Amino acid sequence: MKRSVLRQMIAVVSRPGILSFAGGLPSPALFPTQAYGAALSEVLQEDSRALQYGPPFAPLIAQIVRLMARRGVDVAPEQIFITTGAQQALDVLAKLLVDPGGSVLLEERSYTGMLQALASRQPRLLPVPTDLATGINVDTVARYLASGERPAFLYVIPEAHNPLGVSIGVDKRVRLVELAREYGVPIVEDDPYGLLSYDGEAPSPLRALDADWVFYVGSFSKILAPALRLGWIVAPPALIPQLTVVKEAVDLETSALTQRAVGHFLEQGQLPAHLERLRAAYGSRRDAMLAALKASFPPEAVWTIPSAGMFIWVELPAQVDCQALLERAVAEEQVAFIPGHAFALPGCSAGAAMRLNFSNATEAEIADGIARLGRVLNDIV
Ligand SMILES: Cc1ncc(COP(=O)(O)O)c(C=O)c1O
Repeated sequence: MKRSVLRQMIAVVSRPGILSFAGGLPSPALFPTQAYGAALSEVLQEDSRALQYGPPFAPLIAQIVRLMARRGVDVAPEQIFITTGAQQALDVLAKLLVDPGGSVLLEERSYTGMLQALASRQPRLLPVPTDLATGINVDTVARYLASGERPAFLYVIPEAHNPLGVSIGVDKRVRLVELAREYGVPIVEDDPYGLLSYDGEAPSPLRALDADWVFYVGSFSKILAPALRLGWIVAPPALIPQLTVVKEAVDLETSALTQRAVGHFLEQGQLPAHLERLRAAYGSRRDAMLAALKASFPPEAVWTIPSAGMFIWVELPAQVDCQALLERAVAEEQVAFIPGHAFALPGCSAGAAMRLNFSNATEAEIADGIARLGRVLNDIV
Protein backbone atom coordinates (compact mmCIF):
# COMPACT_ATOMS: atom_id res chain seq x y z
CA MET A 1 0.00 0.00 0.00
CA LYS A 2 1.24 3.51 -0.86
CA ARG A 3 0.25 7.04 0.02
CA SER A 4 -1.97 8.46 -2.73
CA VAL A 5 -0.32 10.84 -5.21
CA LEU A 6 -3.12 13.23 -4.30
CA ARG A 7 -2.36 13.38 -0.56
CA GLN A 8 1.35 13.84 -1.28
CA MET A 9 0.65 16.65 -3.73
CA ILE A 10 -1.69 18.42 -1.35
CA ALA A 11 1.03 18.45 1.29
CA VAL A 12 3.46 20.08 -1.18
CA VAL A 13 1.11 22.72 -2.60
CA SER A 14 -0.38 23.75 0.74
CA ARG A 15 2.68 25.78 1.70
CA PRO A 16 2.08 29.24 3.19
CA GLY A 17 1.82 31.90 0.52
CA ILE A 18 0.29 29.57 -2.07
CA LEU A 19 -3.28 30.27 -3.12
CA SER A 20 -4.49 26.69 -3.30
CA PHE A 21 -7.42 25.32 -5.25
CA ALA A 22 -5.94 21.88 -4.63
CA GLY A 23 -7.48 20.31 -1.53
CA GLY A 24 -11.06 19.27 -0.99
CA LEU A 25 -11.35 21.53 2.00
CA PRO A 26 -14.50 23.18 3.31
CA SER A 27 -14.04 26.78 4.41
CA PRO A 28 -12.88 27.03 8.05
CA ALA A 29 -14.46 30.50 8.27
CA LEU A 30 -17.83 28.75 7.91
CA PHE A 31 -17.33 26.06 10.55
CA PRO A 32 -20.00 26.33 13.29
CA THR A 33 -17.24 26.75 15.86
CA GLN A 34 -19.25 28.55 18.55
CA ALA A 35 -22.33 26.36 18.36
CA TYR A 36 -20.34 23.14 18.21
CA GLY A 37 -18.14 24.29 21.12
CA ALA A 38 -21.27 24.94 23.18
CA ALA A 39 -22.76 21.53 22.28
CA LEU A 40 -19.48 19.83 23.21
CA SER A 41 -19.25 21.55 26.55
CA GLU A 42 -22.90 20.77 27.35
CA VAL A 43 -22.57 17.04 26.67
CA LEU A 44 -19.43 16.90 28.81
CA GLN A 45 -21.19 18.58 31.70
CA GLU A 46 -24.37 16.53 31.39
CA ASP A 47 -22.99 13.02 31.28
CA SER A 48 -19.46 11.75 31.88
CA ARG A 49 -20.24 8.73 29.67
CA ALA A 50 -19.38 11.13 26.85
CA LEU A 51 -15.78 10.12 27.61
CA GLN A 52 -16.48 6.40 27.99
CA TYR A 53 -16.45 3.46 25.57
CA GLY A 54 -20.00 2.90 24.46
CA PRO A 55 -22.34 1.49 21.80
CA PRO A 56 -23.36 3.66 18.82
CA PHE A 57 -25.21 6.65 20.26
CA ALA A 58 -28.94 6.20 19.56
CA PRO A 59 -29.90 9.92 19.59
CA LEU A 60 -27.28 10.60 16.89
CA ILE A 61 -28.67 7.72 14.84
CA ALA A 62 -32.16 9.22 15.20
CA GLN A 63 -30.82 12.50 13.81
CA ILE A 64 -29.17 10.71 10.88
CA VAL A 65 -32.52 9.06 10.10
CA ARG A 66 -33.95 12.60 9.82
CA LEU A 67 -31.07 13.76 7.62
CA MET A 68 -31.64 10.80 5.31
CA ALA A 69 -35.32 11.74 5.10
CA ARG A 70 -34.21 15.19 4.00
CA ARG A 71 -32.28 13.45 1.19
CA GLY A 72 -35.50 11.64 0.28
CA VAL A 73 -34.50 8.30 1.83
CA ASP A 74 -36.71 6.46 4.27
CA VAL A 75 -34.54 4.42 6.67
CA ALA A 76 -34.92 2.77 10.07
CA PRO A 77 -32.40 3.29 12.90
CA GLU A 78 -31.38 -0.40 12.62
CA GLN A 79 -30.03 0.34 9.13
CA ILE A 80 -27.57 3.02 10.25
CA PHE A 81 -23.96 2.12 11.01
CA ILE A 82 -21.79 4.91 12.48
CA THR A 83 -18.25 5.24 11.12
CA THR A 84 -15.18 7.35 11.75
CA GLY A 85 -15.70 9.39 8.58
CA ALA A 86 -16.83 8.24 5.16
CA GLN A 87 -13.29 7.03 4.51
CA GLN A 88 -13.67 4.37 7.18
CA ALA A 89 -17.05 3.45 5.71
CA LEU A 90 -15.37 2.76 2.36
CA ASP A 91 -12.64 0.79 4.12
CA VAL A 92 -14.99 -1.49 6.07
CA LEU A 93 -17.19 -2.01 3.01
CA ALA A 94 -14.14 -2.98 0.95
CA LYS A 95 -13.10 -5.44 3.65
CA LEU A 96 -16.60 -6.88 3.99
CA LEU A 97 -17.45 -7.18 0.31
CA VAL A 98 -14.24 -7.85 -1.64
CA ASP A 99 -12.94 -11.41 -1.62
CA PRO A 100 -9.37 -12.29 -2.62
CA GLY A 101 -9.19 -12.39 -6.41
CA GLY A 102 -12.40 -10.37 -6.71
CA SER A 103 -13.09 -7.34 -8.85
CA VAL A 104 -14.65 -3.91 -8.40
CA LEU A 105 -16.34 -1.61 -10.93
CA LEU A 106 -15.35 2.03 -10.66
CA GLU A 107 -14.92 5.08 -12.81
CA GLU A 108 -11.64 5.74 -14.65
CA ARG A 109 -11.36 9.01 -12.73
CA SER A 110 -12.55 8.63 -9.20
CA TYR A 111 -12.10 9.45 -5.52
CA THR A 112 -8.62 8.23 -4.65
CA GLY A 113 -9.63 7.27 -1.11
CA MET A 114 -11.67 4.41 -2.58
CA LEU A 115 -8.56 3.10 -4.30
CA GLN A 116 -6.68 3.34 -1.00
CA ALA A 117 -9.44 1.45 0.80
CA LEU A 118 -9.25 -1.25 -1.88
CA ALA A 119 -5.46 -1.52 -1.85
CA SER A 120 -5.34 -4.14 0.91
CA ARG A 121 -7.80 -6.38 -1.05
CA GLN A 122 -6.02 -5.98 -4.41
CA PRO A 123 -9.11 -6.54 -6.55
CA ARG A 124 -9.11 -6.39 -10.34
CA LEU A 125 -10.36 -2.89 -11.19
CA LEU A 126 -12.94 -2.73 -13.98
CA PRO A 127 -12.75 0.84 -15.31
CA VAL A 128 -15.85 2.70 -16.46
CA PRO A 129 -15.70 5.98 -18.42
CA THR A 130 -17.58 9.07 -17.25
CA ASP A 131 -19.28 11.67 -19.40
CA LEU A 132 -18.53 15.16 -18.11
CA ALA A 133 -22.14 16.29 -18.59
CA THR A 134 -24.10 13.20 -17.58
CA GLY A 135 -21.79 11.14 -15.37
CA ILE A 136 -20.92 7.45 -15.28
CA ASN A 137 -21.36 5.50 -18.52
CA VAL A 138 -24.13 3.06 -17.57
CA ASP A 139 -23.85 1.18 -20.88
CA THR A 140 -20.30 0.17 -19.99
CA VAL A 141 -21.46 -1.07 -16.57
CA ALA A 142 -24.20 -3.08 -18.31
CA ARG A 143 -21.70 -4.54 -20.79
CA TYR A 144 -19.36 -5.73 -18.04
CA LEU A 145 -22.23 -7.43 -16.23
CA ALA A 146 -23.71 -8.94 -19.38
CA SER A 147 -20.29 -10.37 -20.27
CA GLY A 148 -20.29 -12.37 -17.03
CA GLU A 149 -18.24 -10.12 -14.72
CA ARG A 150 -19.55 -10.28 -11.14
CA PRO A 151 -17.71 -7.50 -9.27
CA ALA A 152 -17.89 -7.25 -5.48
CA PHE A 153 -19.56 -3.88 -5.98
CA LEU A 154 -19.94 -0.83 -8.19
CA TYR A 155 -18.60 2.36 -6.58
CA VAL A 156 -20.41 5.59 -7.54
CA ILE A 157 -20.58 9.22 -6.41
CA PRO A 158 -23.90 10.22 -8.00
CA GLU A 159 -23.97 13.75 -6.59
CA ALA A 160 -21.13 16.20 -7.26
CA HIS A 161 -18.56 13.62 -8.26
CA ASN A 162 -15.07 14.02 -6.83
CA PRO A 163 -13.03 14.96 -8.89
CA LEU A 164 -15.34 15.66 -11.86
CA GLY A 165 -18.09 17.75 -10.24
CA VAL A 166 -20.78 16.06 -12.37
CA SER A 167 -24.10 14.74 -10.99
CA ILE A 168 -26.05 11.99 -12.66
CA GLY A 169 -29.68 12.30 -13.72
CA VAL A 170 -32.61 10.28 -12.46
CA ASP A 171 -32.72 7.98 -15.53
CA LYS A 172 -29.16 6.79 -14.95
CA ARG A 173 -29.84 6.32 -11.23
CA VAL A 174 -32.82 4.10 -12.06
CA ARG A 175 -30.83 2.06 -14.60
CA LEU A 176 -27.92 1.51 -12.19
CA VAL A 177 -30.26 0.20 -9.51
CA GLU A 178 -32.00 -2.05 -12.05
CA LEU A 179 -28.62 -3.50 -13.08
CA ALA A 180 -27.65 -4.08 -9.43
CA ARG A 181 -30.87 -6.03 -8.86
CA GLU A 182 -30.73 -7.95 -12.13
CA TYR A 183 -27.17 -9.17 -11.61
CA GLY A 184 -27.06 -9.25 -7.81
CA VAL A 185 -24.16 -6.78 -7.69
CA PRO A 186 -24.22 -4.27 -4.79
CA ILE A 187 -23.66 -0.55 -5.28
CA VAL A 188 -21.56 1.50 -2.86
CA GLU A 189 -23.02 5.00 -3.11
CA ASP A 190 -20.74 7.72 -1.70
CA ASP A 191 -22.70 10.92 -0.97
CA PRO A 192 -20.68 13.47 1.02
CA TYR A 193 -21.94 16.39 -1.12
CA GLY A 194 -25.66 15.68 -1.59
CA LEU A 195 -26.72 18.30 0.95
CA LEU A 196 -24.44 20.94 -0.59
CA SER A 197 -26.52 21.68 -3.68
CA TYR A 198 -26.68 25.15 -5.22
CA ASP A 199 -29.51 25.01 -7.76
CA GLY A 200 -32.34 23.69 -5.60
CA GLU A 201 -32.47 20.31 -3.88
CA ALA A 202 -30.35 17.53 -5.37
CA PRO A 203 -32.18 14.45 -6.66
CA SER A 204 -32.60 11.60 -4.19
CA PRO A 205 -29.72 9.18 -3.94
CA LEU A 206 -29.78 5.65 -5.38
CA ARG A 207 -30.58 4.33 -1.90
CA ALA A 208 -34.04 5.92 -2.24
CA LEU A 209 -34.67 3.57 -5.16
CA ASP A 210 -33.46 0.35 -3.56
CA ALA A 211 -32.96 -0.81 0.02
CA ASP A 212 -31.38 -4.22 -0.68
CA TRP A 213 -28.53 -3.59 -3.12
CA VAL A 214 -27.34 -0.10 -2.25
CA PHE A 215 -24.91 0.67 0.57
CA TYR A 216 -25.21 4.42 1.15
CA VAL A 217 -22.23 6.27 2.66
CA GLY A 218 -22.76 9.66 4.34
CA SER A 219 -20.41 12.10 6.06
CA PHE A 220 -20.44 15.13 8.35
CA SER A 221 -17.06 16.29 6.99
CA LYS A 222 -18.37 18.68 4.36
CA ILE A 223 -21.60 19.79 6.05
CA LEU A 224 -20.10 20.33 9.54
CA ALA A 225 -16.34 19.75 9.74
CA PRO A 226 -13.82 17.11 8.62
CA ALA A 227 -12.04 17.03 11.99
CA LEU A 228 -15.13 15.45 13.55
CA ARG A 229 -14.27 12.30 11.61
CA LEU A 230 -17.89 11.22 11.61
CA GLY A 231 -19.79 9.39 8.91
CA TRP A 232 -22.28 6.59 8.44
CA ILE A 233 -23.38 3.70 6.26
CA VAL A 234 -26.99 2.81 5.50
CA ALA A 235 -26.88 -0.97 5.13
CA PRO A 236 -29.32 -3.88 5.31
CA PRO A 237 -29.78 -4.64 9.06
CA ALA A 238 -28.57 -8.24 8.63
CA LEU A 239 -25.13 -6.91 7.67
CA ILE A 240 -24.68 -4.49 10.57
CA PRO A 241 -23.18 -7.17 12.89
CA GLN A 242 -20.63 -8.05 10.21
CA LEU A 243 -19.73 -4.41 9.64
CA THR A 244 -19.30 -4.11 13.42
CA VAL A 245 -16.79 -6.97 13.46
CA VAL A 246 -14.73 -5.38 10.68
CA LYS A 247 -14.82 -1.92 12.28
CA GLU A 248 -13.88 -3.18 15.73
CA ALA A 249 -10.61 -4.46 14.35
CA VAL A 250 -9.81 -0.96 13.10
CA ASP A 251 -10.79 1.39 15.95
CA LEU A 252 -13.23 -0.42 18.29
CA GLU A 253 -15.74 2.38 17.90
CA THR A 254 -16.23 5.97 16.79
CA SER A 255 -15.56 8.60 19.48
CA ALA A 256 -18.49 8.68 21.92
CA LEU A 257 -17.70 12.31 22.65
CA THR A 258 -18.06 13.33 19.00
CA GLN A 259 -21.21 11.25 18.55
CA ARG A 260 -22.85 12.92 21.54
CA ALA A 261 -21.72 16.44 20.63
CA VAL A 262 -22.88 16.18 17.01
CA GLY A 263 -26.11 14.51 18.17
CA HIS A 264 -26.73 17.42 20.54
CA PHE A 265 -25.89 20.02 17.86
CA LEU A 266 -28.39 18.39 15.50
CA GLU A 267 -31.08 18.02 18.17
CA GLN A 268 -30.93 21.76 18.74
CA GLY A 269 -32.04 22.16 15.12
CA GLN A 270 -28.97 24.11 14.07
CA LEU A 271 -28.17 22.25 10.87
CA PRO A 272 -30.76 23.69 8.43
CA ALA A 273 -29.63 27.30 8.94
CA HIS A 274 -25.99 26.23 8.81
CA LEU A 275 -26.59 24.40 5.52
CA GLU A 276 -28.28 27.47 4.08
CA ARG A 277 -25.19 29.54 4.93
CA LEU A 278 -22.90 26.98 3.30
CA ARG A 279 -25.04 26.72 0.20
CA ALA A 280 -25.21 30.50 -0.23
CA ALA A 281 -21.45 30.95 0.25
CA TYR A 282 -20.28 27.97 -1.81
CA GLY A 283 -22.86 28.67 -4.52
CA SER A 284 -21.45 32.20 -4.94
CA ARG A 285 -17.90 30.82 -4.96
CA ARG A 286 -18.84 28.32 -7.65
CA ASP A 287 -20.33 31.13 -9.73
CA ALA A 288 -17.22 33.26 -9.17
CA MET A 289 -14.98 30.44 -10.36
CA LEU A 290 -17.11 29.72 -13.43
CA ALA A 291 -17.04 33.43 -14.33
CA ALA A 292 -13.28 33.65 -13.76
CA LEU A 293 -12.63 30.58 -15.92
CA LYS A 294 -14.64 32.12 -18.73
CA ALA A 295 -12.74 35.38 -18.42
CA SER A 296 -9.21 34.02 -18.08
CA PHE A 297 -8.84 30.51 -19.53
CA PRO A 298 -8.10 29.86 -23.22
CA PRO A 299 -11.15 29.18 -25.42
CA GLU A 300 -10.03 25.55 -25.99
CA ALA A 301 -10.56 24.71 -22.29
CA VAL A 302 -13.82 23.04 -21.24
CA TRP A 303 -15.11 22.52 -17.72
CA THR A 304 -17.92 20.96 -15.75
CA ILE A 305 -20.67 23.10 -14.20
CA PRO A 306 -21.32 21.50 -10.82
CA SER A 307 -24.78 21.77 -9.27
CA ALA A 308 -23.38 20.72 -5.89
CA GLY A 309 -20.16 19.93 -4.03
CA MET A 310 -16.79 21.61 -4.18
CA PHE A 311 -15.03 20.89 -7.46
CA ILE A 312 -14.81 21.98 -11.07
CA TRP A 313 -12.95 19.74 -13.54
CA VAL A 314 -11.20 21.51 -16.41
CA GLU A 315 -10.05 19.74 -19.58
CA LEU A 316 -7.27 21.38 -21.55
CA PRO A 317 -5.84 20.88 -25.04
CA ALA A 318 -4.12 17.48 -25.18
CA GLN A 319 -0.61 18.95 -25.57
CA VAL A 320 -0.71 20.64 -22.12
CA ASP A 321 1.44 18.82 -19.56
CA CYS A 322 -0.56 19.52 -16.40
CA GLN A 323 2.22 18.46 -14.04
CA ALA A 324 4.57 21.00 -15.68
CA LEU A 325 1.76 23.55 -15.61
CA LEU A 326 1.34 23.02 -11.87
CA GLU A 327 5.05 23.48 -11.26
CA ARG A 328 5.07 26.75 -13.22
CA ALA A 329 1.85 27.97 -11.60
CA VAL A 330 3.31 27.42 -8.13
CA ALA A 331 6.71 28.93 -8.96
CA GLU A 332 5.57 31.90 -11.04
CA GLU A 333 2.11 32.74 -9.71
CA GLN A 334 1.93 31.01 -6.30
CA VAL A 335 -1.30 29.27 -7.23
CA ALA A 336 -2.02 25.54 -7.07
CA PHE A 337 -4.47 22.91 -8.32
CA ILE A 338 -4.41 19.12 -8.66
CA PRO A 339 -3.52 17.70 -12.08
CA GLY A 340 -6.11 15.24 -13.32
CA HIS A 341 -3.73 12.28 -13.44
CA ALA A 342 -3.80 12.12 -9.62
CA PHE A 343 -7.34 10.73 -9.91
CA ALA A 344 -6.80 8.20 -12.69
CA LEU A 345 -7.18 4.49 -12.06
CA PRO A 346 -3.95 2.56 -12.65
CA GLY A 347 -3.60 2.03 -16.40
CA CYS A 348 -6.16 4.76 -17.24
CA SER A 349 -5.48 8.27 -18.47
CA ALA A 350 -7.19 11.38 -17.13
CA GLY A 351 -6.09 13.39 -20.18
CA ALA A 352 -4.83 16.96 -19.83
CA ALA A 353 -7.02 18.07 -16.96
CA MET A 354 -7.11 19.73 -13.56
CA ARG A 355 -9.38 19.64 -10.52
CA LEU A 356 -10.16 23.01 -8.97
CA ASN A 357 -11.68 23.41 -5.51
CA PHE A 358 -13.93 26.44 -5.04
CA SER A 359 -15.11 26.07 -1.43
CA ASN A 360 -11.98 27.20 0.39
CA ALA A 361 -11.24 30.60 -1.20
CA THR A 362 -13.17 33.86 -1.18
CA GLU A 363 -14.71 35.19 -4.37
CA ALA A 364 -11.94 37.81 -4.62
CA GLU A 365 -9.25 35.14 -4.18
CA ILE A 366 -10.94 32.98 -6.80
CA ALA A 367 -11.06 35.83 -9.35
CA ASP A 368 -7.41 36.66 -8.68
CA GLY A 369 -6.13 33.08 -8.52
CA ILE A 370 -7.88 31.92 -11.68
CA ALA A 371 -6.58 34.99 -13.53
CA ARG A 372 -3.05 34.10 -12.38
CA LEU A 373 -3.48 30.49 -13.44
CA GLY A 374 -4.89 31.67 -16.76
CA ARG A 375 -1.72 33.75 -17.37
CA VAL A 376 0.51 30.68 -17.09
CA LEU A 377 -1.87 28.58 -19.14
CA ASN A 378 -2.21 31.14 -21.96
CA ASP A 379 1.57 31.26 -22.13
CA ILE A 380 1.70 27.50 -22.72
CA VAL A 381 -1.31 26.92 -25.01
C1 LIG B 1 -16.19 11.27 -2.54
C2 LIG B 1 -15.60 11.27 -1.16
N1 LIG B 1 -15.78 10.21 -0.38
C3 LIG B 1 -15.27 10.17 0.87
C4 LIG B 1 -14.53 11.22 1.39
C5 LIG B 1 -13.96 11.11 2.78
O1 LIG B 1 -14.79 11.78 3.67
P1 LIG B 1 -14.55 11.73 5.26
O2 LIG B 1 -13.87 12.99 5.63
O3 LIG B 1 -15.94 11.64 5.81
O4 LIG B 1 -13.75 10.52 5.57
C6 LIG B 1 -14.31 12.35 0.58
C7 LIG B 1 -13.49 13.46 1.08
O5 LIG B 1 -13.09 14.32 0.38
C8 LIG B 1 -14.87 12.38 -0.72
O6 LIG B 1 -14.70 13.42 -1.54
